[in-house]
Amino acid sequence: MATATKPVARPKIQQTECFIGGRWTPAQSGKTFETHNPATEELIARVAEGDAADIDAAVKAARKQFDGGEWSRMDARDRGKLIYKLADLIESELDELAALESLDNGKPIRDSRAADLPLTIDALRYYAGYADKIHGQTIPVRGPYFTYTRKEPVGVVGQIIPWNFPMLMVAWKWGPALATGCTIVMKPAEQTPLTCLRMARLAQKAGIPDGVINVVPGYGPSAGAALVKHPGVDKVAFTGSTEVGKIIMRDAAASMKRVTLELGGKSPNIVFEDCDLNAAVAGAHFGLYFNQGQCCCAGSRLFVQEKIHDKFVEQIMAINKSRKLGDPLDPETEQGPQVNKEQFDKILGYIESGKQQGAQCLTGGGRHGDKGFYVQPTLFTGVKDEMKIAQEEIFGPVMSILKFKDLDEIAARANNTDYGLAAAIWTRDIGKAHSLAAKLRAGTVWINCYDVFDAAAPFGGFKQSGLGRELGEAALSNYTEHKTVTVAL
Ligand code: NAI
Ligand code: MG
Repeated sequence: MATATKPVARPKIQQTECFIGGRWTPAQSGKTFETHNPATEELIARVAEGDAADIDAAVKAARKQFDGGEWSRMDARDRGKLIYKLADLIESELDELAALESLDNGKPIRDSRAADLPLTIDALRYYAGYADKIHGQTIPVRGPYFTYTRKEPVGVVGQIIPWNFPMLMVAWKWGPALATGCTIVMKPAEQTPLTCLRMARLAQKAGIPDGVINVVPGYGPSAGAALVKHPGVDKVAFTGSTEVGKIIMRDAAASMKRVTLELGGKSPNIVFEDCDLNAAVAGAHFGLYFNQGQCCCAGSRLFVQEKIHDKFVEQIMAINKSRKLGDPLDPETEQGPQVNKEQFDKILGYIESGKQQGAQCLTGGGRHGDKGFYVQPTLFTGVKDEMKIAQEEIFGPVMSILKFKDLDEIAARANNTDYGLAAAIWTRDIGKAHSLAAKLRAGTVWINCYDVFDAAAPFGGFKQSGLGRELGEAALSNYTEHKTVTVAL
């Protein structure tokens, strides 16, 4: 198709206000903040800057709907139907939403279309199907009693999400919350509020009752913190940095809110000499450079066994040199800009530290172009476990290759981090793969693949990478309270 290679049209910006109780309203303070196109640094839109007052209004709307509204009385199967409808509406606007996501975030349109949108739709449908399958048990207790359990929605949930997969994070959060019958106040990331607001509009169009979903755009320390501290909120779900995750746990403690956290990572990707080399190179490249390296599960400690090291490095260099950086709205583009200047500067700082600490920079190593927040695909070899680039989350297109000798040393080195989100193993020896998978302290282990996500497969972190699991059946328990009812017979 001739049109497939033309840049897509710039999408229209339709929603920029707070969405509270089914109404679009400016922030009570009248303030707005700017969201920019990271490819050009130009202003895209001014968005309502919600703060504690707007959060309070949104929590009241969510509370009212939860405590006595139609959502809590609705048959579970009908709730499921509305979630399906939302997924259908998103699918019908797939191209438009993908373009909006790429405009606001900077991710290549080919990725928004092939990954973010389909995964978003899948997650909503997966949870739509669960709505009428959430039920308790009858329990044989001692004595003349009949005991059963009910799984009830936890209540009003506060959801705070980051900017790296804006729409997908909405689906991961809304899906299980809606299926279980909770009501929602969401604060999207200040860098990328637009698709979340669009999804709120589509939820209303789908017929999800007013007050079930409320969205308050704004900043973390004001709107985000107010949501976490609000006494009308029963549970908080957060995805973002480990640093802020710790603040949220502390803030939530005062009212004993339920908390789930999906945080950062420094995931080991372990390539043995007996792997399928081409597959491992492609998988490791994807596992690090996908989404401009802005993935919590990025394979950012790449351990390569000595014997294949040089050949492996040569192949990665070749891919980096031919990588197409450019306009996110151009379907040919493979790598877009980082989301904003803060991230861009942070990444360039890590690149500097890698050079200073003696790692060899074989490709990239700096800015690409002179407009937008583009970073060259950067490759470091000779990285040592104790270097900063091997320890801290870079969240950018910077690959660090560490050499290893044998199986005996690798589990301990891979686990030598405060994080524990993901890991991967490349080998043709299935015994070795499974025994190492059991030893790795990580919530997800990929064998001979990377970044394989599915709505049905739980995802989350060991150690300081988080608390609880998203996706799969596991996520439903984040949004339910178990009640035990006992009747004397
Ligand atoms: P962040 O953790 O500060 O922001 C994530 C979300 O939390 C945003 O919606 C933000 O407004 C909100 N937030 C910030 N402070 C808050 C507070 N005190 N109370 C309540 N909500 C608050 O992440 P940021 O600053 O965007 O990125 C910093 C680093 O975090 C990145 O360089 C990266 O290393 C990591 N990160 C990890 C992500 C992941 O998927 N695990 C996603 C985004 C960032
Ligand atoms: Mg921050």
